[in-house]
Amino acid sequence: MLKARIAVMVSGGGTNLQALLDAQAAGKLPSGEIVLVLASNSKAYALERAKKAGIPGFAVSKKELGSQEAFEEGLSKLLEEYRIDLIILAGFLSILSESFTAKWPRRILNIHPSLIPSFCGQGMYGLKVHEAALKKGVKVTGATVHFVNEIPDGGEILLQKAVEILPGDTAEVLQRRVMEQAEWLLLPQAAEMVSADIVKERE
Ligand code: GAR
Repeated sequence: MLKARIAVMVSGGGTNLQALLDAQAAGKLPSGEIVLVLASNSKAYALERAKKAGIPGFAVSKKELGSQEAFEEGLSKLLEEYRIDLIILAGFLSILSESFTAKWPRRILNIHPSLIPSFCGQGMYGLKVHEAALKKGVKVTGATVHFVNEIPDGGEILLQKAVEILPGDTAEVLQRRVMEQAEWLLLPQAAEMVSADIVKERE
């Protein structure tokens, strides 16, 4: 069976990348293979994780390349070179334009740390999402894996999981619980679901 070739795109610590790598090592990603990691900045610790796992990792910086167009060209070149079938945004904080996302219909996944449509959209990322949930006083939050289209956090929802908010939670405590109870489980599961579809399509 020819596995789906996966690129994981990251910006920060990369715990979701690690969850994907661990799932792969544990045989929980039988239809896919992580073959490339792309970071939006060279300091992303996620690049270290890729290195440790023996997976090629590159930084593609919009700041250094000077424009959105050059940034997306840089990404596309590597995605092509590594013959990528599926892109997974795992804490990737740069926005992708419609001309990029349109080339990958139902082939870009994103993980967002809330139950979409709550606490999402442009500017809602990382701790800000959890701060907003605590400010609103919701009692339940969670994580969402969705396909990526031109609308930030607006693509079709694939998986969601709810997580309780507890009295005294800080944004940091809540972020960790959402990661442990939802994100690190959902993302590998979604990666396998879409990889299996890609493999099936080829048969
Ligand atoms: C994760 O919580 C992810 O859901 C979030 O950034 C964090 C990255 O952590 N993504 C967004 O907020 C996207 N809008 P990680 O680098 O440890 O995986």
